[in-house]
Amino acid sequence: MAEQNDHTGSSNADYDLNIPIPSNASGLRQGLTSYGDAHFSLFLRKVFIKALGYSDDALSRPIIGIVNTYSSFNPCHANIPQLIEATKRGVQLSGGLAVDFPTISLHESFASPTSMFLRNLMSMDTEEMVRAQPCDAVVLLGGCDKTTPAQLMGGISANKPIVHLVTGPMMPGSHRGARIGACTDCRNNWAKFRAGTIDVEEISAINDELAPTAGTCGVMGTASTMACVLVGLGMMPIKSATAPAVSSARLRIAEETGKLAVRAAATKLGPQQVLSRESFLNAITVLQAIGGSTNAVVHLMAIIGRHPQVAGTIDLNTFDEIGRKTPLLVDLKPSGENYMTDFHNSGGMPALLHELKPLLHLNARTVSGKSLGEEIESAPRPYVPRDSPVNCIHPLGEPLYPASSIVVLKGNLAPDGAVMKASASKYRSLLRHQGQAVVFTNSADMAQRIDDPDLDVHADSVLVLQNIGPIGNPGMPEAGLIPIPRKLSEQGVQDMLRLSDGRMSGTAGGTIVLHISPESAHAESVLGVVRTGDVIECDAETRKLQLHVPEDEIRLRIEARKTESKTFGKAAQEHTRGYRGLYVRSVNQSHQGADFDFLTAAGP
Ligand code: FES
Repeated sequence: MAEQNDHTGSSNADYDLNIPIPSNASGLRQGLTSYGDAHFSLFLRKVFIKALGYSDDALSRPIIGIVNTYSSFNPCHANIPQLIEATKRGVQLSGGLAVDFPTISLHESFASPTSMFLRNLMSMDTEEMVRAQPCDAVVLLGGCDKTTPAQLMGGISANKPIVHLVTGPMMPGSHRGARIGACTDCRNNWAKFRAGTIDVEEISAINDELAPTAGTCGVMGTASTMACVLVGLGMMPIKSATAPAVSSARLRIAEETGKLAVRAAATKLGPQQVLSRESFLNAITVLQAIGGSTNAVVHLMAIIGRHPQVAGTIDLNTFDEIGRKTPLLVDLKPSGENYMTDFHNSGGMPALLHELKPLLHLNARTVSGKSLGEEIESAPRPYVPRDSPVNCIHPLGEPLYPASSIVVLKGNLAPDGAVMKASASKYRSLLRHQGQAVVFTNSADMAQRIDDPDLDVHADSVLVLQNIGPIGNPGMPEAGLIPIPRKLSEQGVQDMLRLSDGRMSGTAGGTIVLHISPESAHAESVLGVVRTGDVIECDAETRKLQLHVPEDEIRLRIEARKTESKTFGKAAQEHTRGYRGLYVRSVNQSHQGADFDFLTAAGP
């Protein structure tokens, strides 16, 4: 910070017209507003910030921005005011000046049509506000599913020093003596209600207990997955993924993060310098070992696509290759039985990373300046007896599931890939299955017919939902968990092979093939021309997803669809205004991360 003041309060050098303000200035002198006279711009900036009561001494410190994503519509972020206060304490204990500023806030249940539709908007908001404002480093504070991916996407593109801080998971609730928690148990209990095995009074009582505290969903959903992935990437302190939102540990983590941000400001290293290909390979290893959310695959591909040196070096095959050698070690819902508090009490990410050491690239750099290996060694392995009822981390040699928690499928039905969380399948026999398709052309069609007693469907049918991909249903909704038709669920059927080009909540389970690419709305999509009665084969072992229809017949159907309707997919929305128009014209396919083409490192 040589060009800054010396913390004495003197700032007259700022007004010396003979000393140019360098383009790489730090603190308040960076990124000046354009008035044509840089010294006047700085003078004016100081006029206005002094209205907030800051002294010249305070303004001479490294400025640490804290992104405030609080919203009264976002219970996952309800503890953000306390976390900001604790982060500021850490910044100020280390000699920095903490300044918080808002960006948009996304909660899963309060974002129509989907929070994913708004993820790229949030990434643009984050990127531009981080770039526009005079911050030497930024703490990206958030937690809910789309928040941390959006923040890292924007953070990489802005490339100022950043550190992540998550809000932390919520505590589990209790119902009739059993623990319950959002959102795996939301879905399990709703399925029971649909099947008639619990009544309206009980589902109402359950509704009161599923999210009993502030914080992110308390299972290995997308928010928890991304928190663990951020530790694997080295973008967050090693202990900071799992501490409950309402714990004092969470506040101490915030304080530590504030201190870390001041150190990150001194290094001037942005995420493009911190993160390497090895960092992302580590993140994918963590994703497979925790039985993480399939959504993380889309998010990681979007994040990778923002990194000029890593983009193009990792694709869906990389996820599958890493999966083949990575066992599932963490026994959490939806793949297992426990909650995030159990993972935390088992030692959390430090304990898991100690187990995973043989599979990690330990030289990968982290935001602390240390390597990931050094971070692991400096975090003593918490002692939790293996037979303790709270221990949900399996040793590397005794995994919960041998390998490939998430598999990538390919075949004529998904030439660019599809994703399935094999570890969350309820009936393992479905992982190698062939059956006749029952096709729904969109979500409305499915809602109308799925519970029709006359629907010709059997337990071994393959349910196919079209047009819920990035363009077909902008935002790629989490509608891939096609409900079991009521007439089958009433017979006790709990799982079926289900296929779509959409996503599924990370908290959900079942034999569900997702993210089929190219999506139905794409002119060349095979998924878009599947018909009821066609035979589909899915084999998780050989990674096959095949439509058993002759190739020339498939080609005829694709060409016929193009002729019959020139206006589907992107073309149908050519004249759509506003953000939705921007979205459908610019979003890339799910195997690329469903990012906007003009935001990727490669550009449009
Ligand atoms: Fe925010 Fe689940 S709704 S993490």
